[in-house]
Amino acid sequence: MRFVFFGPPGAGKGTMAVEASSEFSLPHVSTGDLFRSAIRKRTPLGLYVKTIIDAGSLVPDQATIDLVKERLAQPDARSGWLLDGFPRTIGQAQALSDFCPENWVIDLQVSDPVLISRLSGRRMCSGCSHSYHMVFKQPKIDGVCDACGSPLYIRDDDREASVRNRLLEYRSLTEPLVDYYREKGNLVMVNGEGDPKAVWASLKQIMLDLHALKH
Ligand code: AP5
Ligand code: MG
Repeated sequence: MRFVFFGPPGAGKGTMAVEASSEFSLPHVSTGDLFRSAIRKRTPLGLYVKTIIDAGSLVPDQATIDLVKERLAQPDARSGWLLDGFPRTIGQAQALSDFCPENWVIDLQVSDPVLISRLSGRRMCSGCSHSYHMVFKQPKIDGVCDACGSPLYIRDDDREASVRNRLLEYRSLTEPLVDYYREKGNLVMVNGEGDPKAVWASLKQIMLDLHALKH
């Protein structure tokens, strides 16, 4: 199984990828999480990308492509993966098709007002990839991750100005990929609105159906 979770900031890519990773035992490869981990560890990559990410802009293609290529070459990704947040430009999509021609792209569709309400209430786990929401997906204990017990935090790029820029970057640089993948024939539109459990139930069925189609 090789799936790209595609969609605007706040569409639920990370939330759904965590569910799918546990259901299908596949590595969840989120470029955003990889960059945030590099920032926390203060690696050269982390120092390079911090201001770019905080401003809500995209990291240049080559650094992003190298990072994904290296991650997908690891043994746990040999038989499949879930990509979350990559590709995000035509250049990245072309690079992905060079090193992995076969995959499905799931486009999670969510309207702008819903995206903004999701991002403004999001809380992230500092220890794993789980994201929570102050209203829609509360942790059992306030400020603590249900899955790993680590403290929750607010992402720097969830501030209003960064969110605005992320949505603009999405519309100008990332959304054109919808036509690119529609032409390739591997794009599947999924309604990303509604209760997270209901979205996951329909997405899981779609993933199973797509997987069966390939075999
Ligand atoms: P990244 O971390 O990928 O951020 P993003 O694409 O902006 O997406 P988000 O993580 O904000 O949203 P999501 O779709 O994962 O939603 P989530 O599940 O958390 O990238 C961050 C930055 O890194 C980029 O801006 C860029 O600078 C850089 N970067 C990353 N990849 C790059 C690339 N390929 N090229 C260049 N630069 C790159 O859900 C959001 C909230 O809603 C949560 O609170 C969640 O609990 C809640 N929620 C989820 N589903 C539902 C639902 N059905 N109902 C109600 N609430 C829900
Ligand atoms: Mg995410």
